[in-house]
Amino acid sequence: MAKEVIFGTPFETGAILGETEKADSLEHWQTEQGEKLVFRCPLAENDIVYGLGEQVRGIDKRGGRYVSYNTDNPNHTDDMLSMYGSHNLIVVDGDKHFGAFFDTPSRVLFEIDWQNSGEITVTCDGNVKVIELTGESSYAIVKEFLSLIGRSYIPPLWAFGFGQSRWGYKRQKDFDEVADGYRNANIPLDWICMDIDYMDRFIDFTVNKKRFPDLKGYAESLRKRGIRLVPIVDAGVKIEPGNDTYDTGVQNNYFCTNHEGGFFKAAVWPGMTHFPDFFQPAVREWFGNEYRKLTDLGIEGFWNDMNEPAIFYSEYTGIFNALTPAPTLESEKESNAYKDYRNFYHNINGQRVLHEKVHNLYGALMTQAAGEQLDKILPNRYLLFSRASYVGAHRYGGIWTGDNASEWDHLVRNVKMMPSLNMVGFLYSGADTGGFGGNCGRELMLRWLAFSVFTPLMRNHSALLTKKQECFRYADNEDFAGVISLRYKLLPYIYSEFVKAALGGDMYIKPLSFEYGDERSRRVEDQLLVGDSIMIAPFVQKGRKTREVWLPEDMTEVRYDGKSFSCQKAESGEHTVSAQLNEVVFYIRKGKCVPVTRGAQCTDEVNLDDVVLLGDGKEYRQYVDDGLTKRVSADNIRLLRRK
Ligand code: GLC
Repeated sequence: MAKEVIFGTPFETGAILGETEKADSLEHWQTEQGEKLVFRCPLAENDIVYGLGEQVRGIDKRGGRYVSYNTDNPNHTDDMLSMYGSHNLIVVDGDKHFGAFFDTPSRVLFEIDWQNSGEITVTCDGNVKVIELTGESSYAIVKEFLSLIGRSYIPPLWAFGFGQSRWGYKRQKDFDEVADGYRNANIPLDWICMDIDYMDRFIDFTVNKKRFPDLKGYAESLRKRGIRLVPIVDAGVKIEPGNDTYDTGVQNNYFCTNHEGGFFKAAVWPGMTHFPDFFQPAVREWFGNEYRKLTDLGIEGFWNDMNEPAIFYSEYTGIFNALTPAPTLESEKESNAYKDYRNFYHNINGQRVLHEKVHNLYGALMTQAAGEQLDKILPNRYLLFSRASYVGAHRYGGIWTGDNASEWDHLVRNVKMMPSLNMVGFLYSGADTGGFGGNCGRELMLRWLAFSVFTPLMRNHSALLTKKQECFRYADNEDFAGVISLRYKLLPYIYSEFVKAALGGDMYIKPLSFEYGDERSRRVEDQLLVGDSIMIAPFVQKGRKTREVWLPEDMTEVRYDGKSFSCQKAESGEHTVSAQLNEVVFYIRKGKCVPVTRGAQCTDEVNLDDVVLLGDGKEYRQYVDDGLTKRVSADNIRLLRRK
């Protein structure tokens, strides 16, 4: 049973739902209360430290320092301190196994064998609820944690189809070009994102009427072609008297306030905005209901953005925050974005609370606002993913990992981050495939797609002014059609494994070490387990057609060439494996099976019932439902037997 120890007066984040045993002290951590509260625990030489969700460096977090403080920073390097989400789970794996979740919405510094200190130190402001977890393995500890934080969000089947996005699609004809481009090249596609340009001057819940005279009709016409539109919603509401969202927000005091008690003003894409005070239940209900303005037009999915919240400049700082260097621990006080987090307040149960104290919950509460209402508004399941997050938001939506770049290192980081995201409940997640910033060449895109085939959120997204990276634009685009067709052939498996993991409080993507106890497997960071049957070893190095692969046991090697599968037995041990750019190689674990179906251009055409089994197992427990309605239940399992 998990133990809960309270320090100071922690803020109730809502992350933990399950029962814990109240205790006075922690078993594995020493505490020191000075100006800050510090938790210490020694590490043995062989210990691995898992956790921290959306963070850099790898599956093993040793050797780094990390700050939980949701930050809009596109410079994803191993030295960056903070990404867009904060997920304060640590699991120590060695002779002993134990974990701790530091539940606080304010800033937390994790130093994990930093400068070979031989210990972990966790530093926070003194008000924190610590959940201490014990178990016989790291995997057991993570499962215990997942059982405490509640069921992960389950999107509809179409959200597991391939999505295309780009900042810069402005008009209907840009969307037509994408839809036609994919369909004409026979590259499967299920959804297209609408970035900020669909709005009237970036004002939330508006549609630019010149560009989309009849969005409802247009969405319907795309829908008939098996394509859905997924618009963006930003956190900041433009200061625009006469706009309904703005006016209602002002009349009801729904926005965050400044030092003087007026509404806090900060510039984001639309210019000066106010931030909805998502900490108030009435604000969440109001803002969530605003999505109706788009669901009434036939929209069934959204992405929430800029909700750290990102601030370009404010009425106080007045300097373009985006141009200031990314914060470091030493320079933190000089960062304008961080300064602004001390310049506005929330109204929490009638108390004025400085944003800085509860910063990491802001984006999570925006996701909750949207998720709770979409669930009421829409008859079927919705698609929702957000940029900023905290544990708890995983019950309402997924996340993407923000503004990465078209660089091989970013693909590597994507691979390594996925299991950590799964440890904290964000099963529906993925990165901008091909990279957001920078220009993505053919080889990188194909290799990235070959990895994203296995991540629940599979979306190609890129920034304004970068080279266009829709798959149909590349030479020999049948290779792209081939790689993406694998996603659609594997859908019965991906969907089944995802839903089973969500319903069972389990991970969908795991490190090898969670299933294989040997020391060699424990150290693998560039191969992953996907669901219960598959192991992948993605190709993440430029120019390489071969790579080393470790097989912890005998497996079936499956080679997909864009059309068909060929399977062969592979013995446990080290292998050098080759894959051409149009090929995807993956492995099926001993005694397991993977159901595959015929290819399709979109999920509407996929028949989850018409499957054959690959692998040397005898049977597969397939989760199958209509993929759309809310009737998700563990009873929807059927046993498939090999003939
Ligand atoms: C942010 C988002 C990015 C989006 C852009 C414009 O940078 O992270 O995905 O394209 O804003 O809305």
